[in-house]
Amino acid sequence: MRTTIAPLAPLAPLARLARLALLAFAASGLAGTAHAQANIEAAMTKVGCLACHAKDKKLVGPAYKDVAAKYKGQADAVAKLSAKVRTGGQGAWGPVPMPPTAADKLSDADLKAAIEWVLKQ
Ligand code: HEC
Repeated sequence: MRTTIAPLAPLAPLARLARLALLAFAASGLAGTAHAQANIEAAMTKVGCLACHAKDKKLVGPAYKDVAAKYKGQADAVAKLSAKVRTGGQGAWGPVPMPPTAADKLSDADLKAAIEWVLKQ
């Protein structure tokens, strides 16, 4: 009995370590997603989006949840809305214009992440 188990015994701590490493990896993946979301909200606050927009009520601009509902299922929504935020414009929600947001304020990657976040509200 003993002789068949004994040679494997030294490996037990290794197996435990591997399991811990996997757990840590999975946890860091989850934290990474939450982190990216917090980051995009922070970036949007900094650049001013959230001064004119709230998630669920109209301020100067439409509520993001209304924007998400309006463009739900539209394949070109991210491209279309990114262009609109970049250059600014009016008429989709009323006469009040949205000012442009230049790339030195919000990079293309952050703009895309911001619009994807808006469309998830
Ligand atoms: C000064 C206020 C203001 C700021 C700052 C602002 N918005 Fe807007 N936003 C508006 C207004 C007003 C509208 C409605 C424009 C219209 O009727 O076409 C709008 C519309 C939108 C829309 C919907 C566009 C459409 O055509 O349906 C999105 C998406 C959006 N804003 C995202 C953003 C993001 C992201 C930022 C930050 C980079 C931002 N907004 C900053 C006022 C603002």
